[in-house]
Amino acid sequence: MALRVKADVWLARPWQCLRKTRALGTTATLAPNTLQPFEAIPQYSRNRWLKMIQILREQGQENLHLEMHQAFQELGPIFRYSIGRTQVVSVMLPEDAEKLHQVESTHPRRMHLEPWVAHREHRGLRCGVFLLNGPEWHFNRLRLNPNVLSPKAVQKFVPMVDMVARDFLEALKKRVFQNARGSLTMDAQQSLFNYSIEASNFVLFGERLGLLGHDLSPGSLKFIHALHSMFKTTTQLMFLPRSLTRWTSTQVWKEHFEAWDVISEYANRCIRKVHQELRLGNPQTYSGIVAELIAQGALSLDAIRANSIELTAGSVDTTAFPLVMTLFELARNPDVQQAIRQESLAAEASIAADPQRAMTDLPLLRAALKETLRLYPVGGFLERILSSDLALHNYHVPAGVLKSFRVETLRQEDVQMVYRFVLMPSSSPLLTFRPVS
Ligand code: HEM
Repeated sequence: MALRVKADVWLARPWQCLRKTRALGTTATLAPNTLQPFEAIPQYSRNRWLKMIQILREQGQENLHLEMHQAFQELGPIFRYSIGRTQVVSVMLPEDAEKLHQVESTHPRRMHLEPWVAHREHRGLRCGVFLLNGPEWHFNRLRLNPNVLSPKAVQKFVPMVDMVARDFLEALKKRVFQNARGSLTMDAQQSLFNYSIEASNFVLFGERLGLLGHDLSPGSLKFIHALHSMFKTTTQLMFLPRSLTRWTSTQVWKEHFEAWDVISEYANRCIRKVHQELRLGNPQTYSGIVAELIAQGALSLDAIRANSIELTAGSVDTTAFPLVMTLFELARNPDVQQAIRQESLAAEASIAADPQRAMTDLPLLRAALKETLRLYPVGGFLERILSSDLALHNYHVPAGVLKSFRVETLRQEDVQMVYRFVLMPSSSPLLTFRPVS
């Protein structure tokens, strides 16, 4: 029997203590010394129908991360459960993630993200690397890597991110000085969301949207609304079979498709503009990832469009929420904030002369961002369908920058996190930005 096996890798503070917790006596039994069959893996059982009703009622699974945490505490570092006829194995220790990486082929397989794939299929659109598997994924990925991930590509687009970051700070400064008390208290989430769209759009398409100002154009507002709506409806649909939600959640499907249509039309327009400008003249300067991809002709325009849509969708929440949480942690850890300010003041001149130095000359800032990602892992899961058998725990698993501001908060208690496709704060902490004299 070919079984699909999914691995969930958890990297947050409470989970790292799991071994100790086991030693303190959870109900989990210790892993066996001799190789045991798949069926011996501790089973996480839940009533499938009750779960589906709960997901429908709650419009998602906001506490998924807490449920999984509890399951790991009760059952140990490996457990299994089924979703329909699919067998899923969850692991959380780094050594298990390593083993899974070691058996990974050049064509790793992941489960389909059904709502997104359904939209592409219905509209006759291609999928990009986020949704593809197999040779097609490999083909696209090999052509994207040199322009998106390679150090040479990063070197080219870092100045563009730097420019947007500086404009963001200028806009913030202006708002602070407009206030009578000379400080600005705000829910920074929406501003950081707009910042990340602005930066990602500039890097991808070489075009500024003007999202950092007050007066957003109707087109920009429509696009931002579509991104929010797409993520919200994704979590309402992704945990339930389409055969059910097509009857129970017709309005949600409609909203999901409409949101993707707006995002897709937006990417189309951007690509058409880049394409036309490239045909009318050969720019001598770097103008973004999409222009490079079109100029090289290594991918068809349809494939570039598909990948641009996924890069746009993938870049927003993943950037905005870690920034919100980093600012919150710095606000309630003023000593760390002060040390990072000293570090950036010391590196200011070198980074102004060469923006690339931001990657090497700010080790403490880098560590603070990494620590935020450890405490609040925005992407909480990684999944794989195994292509060869594997022994895990002796169980057989068969194939199947703010340098001129101080940020403050009155809030000392932790922020509750919820799972809405990414892990995000359930409510955004109120932050106060005050200029440092
Ligand atoms: C802290 C930030 C981020 C986290 C934690 C994160 C997490 C992840 C994870 C877990 C995957 C699945 C990888 C796999 O299956 O092997 C993924 C894939 C992907 N992410 Fe991110 N991501 C982040 C930032 C971004 C950004 C900024 C972009 C776009 C500019 C992006 C675009 C993508 C794309 C296109 C894929 C599919 C890659 C492929 O399958 O080849 N992500 N991300």
